[in-house]
Amino acid sequence: MTEALDSKVVRKDFPIFNEGKLVYLDSASSSQKPTAVIEAMSRYYETTHANVHRGVYAIAEEATRLYEDARAKVASFLGGRADELVFTKNVTEACNLFVQSWGRQNLKPGDVVLLTQMEHHAMLVPWLMLAAQLGVELRYLDVTDDGYLDLTDLEAKLQGVKFVGVTAASNVLGTLNPIRQITDAAHSAGAVVFVDGAQSAPHVATDVAALGCDAFGWTGHKLLGPTGIGGLWAKGEILEAIPPFLGGGEMIRDVRLDGFEANDVPWKFEAGTPPIAEAVGLGAAIDYLNALGMDAVRSHELELTQYAFDAFQAAYGDSNKVHGPKNVADRTGVFSFEYKGIHPHDLAQVLDEHGVCVRAGHHCAKPLMRCLNVAATARASFYVYNDTSDIDALINALAEVDALFC
Ligand code: ALA
Repeated sequence: MTEALDSKVVRKDFPIFNEGKLVYLDSASSSQKPTAVIEAMSRYYETTHANVHRGVYAIAEEATRLYEDARAKVASFLGGRADELVFTKNVTEACNLFVQSWGRQNLKPGDVVLLTQMEHHAMLVPWLMLAAQLGVELRYLDVTDDGYLDLTDLEAKLQGVKFVGVTAASNVLGTLNPIRQITDAAHSAGAVVFVDGAQSAPHVATDVAALGCDAFGWTGHKLLGPTGIGGLWAKGEILEAIPPFLGGGEMIRDVRLDGFEANDVPWKFEAGTPPIAEAVGLGAAIDYLNALGMDAVRSHELELTQYAFDAFQAAYGDSNKVHGPKNVADRTGVFSFEYKGIHPHDLAQVLDEHGVCVRAGHHCAKPLMRCLNVAATARASFYVYNDTSDIDALINALAEVDALFC
């Protein structure tokens, strides 16, 4: 059994919390970085930096080893194989890669793609772009009033569908979607399934085999790693079959003036100099999360989310709406709320004056905002370095907001 996570101890590993009282409740947007990640990147630049897969000298070979070690660590963290793990800039690029490479090869006019109304723009916009170009029909699973995907018409909506794109966890509602149920139904209908794991991989243990998906996108900066690196895991036979996305150096085996031969998977999808230092930092982030234990990370967030629900209920009763499932077991530590009708941007600005960082806006999920019938929400989100005092600070700062707006 993993030990419970002690956020007071964890917090000491994050230099940003060393000075003053920062109440950081925006990890769904981007997480803070532990010293281990920052130092791994500095050490790499100070002692080892060279380009990868090119040089035959010692530091170039060491840089290549570190880069490929990071790939192996991430693959293992996701329950997949290293040769099925492609590094990209972020999850948005992973979605674009798959949509363009798989979609252009496998879809024809009139084919159907099934997405959901709680998708992030990273999934929606690449499909809106390609669907318009190819003449593909886009269908959507609805969201229920209590923040779940409406699966009552899943089988009907899957009729004729070739691709299903679904987020594992909503970045607005926190909802953890029943991915296995969706992949099983989609596969029975003959569809390929891409899971957007940007908001789940940092918070719950991931096993792509258990999810049953064909592809899984994720990003490093939300799971304690640096910005500029994320990736795509996909089944080897799919990665072998689909064409490269970006062309350039490194992704080729041979180039002639009349054509080229692509490199092996996964390098055929990694054109140009990759994010090497970022991969090193990401490897350190994975080590850090593994040392905490993903079960402990999840338990800690469940406790904080329940505490936030209880604290809001005690302070405001039913007068302030918290979006998404009421059962914390069905959600991550994402807590979108309305407060006395005050515009979320005004709210976030006043909270900032009290040192409390929350995100306000549409959260790159405009269709979901329309479902919720709001233009924006205020969103607090919790991670390993947060504790109940951060939620108390949020509630206390909200009381100060009253003085200005109510
Ligand atoms: N997608 C990120 C968020 O939800 C940026 O804040």
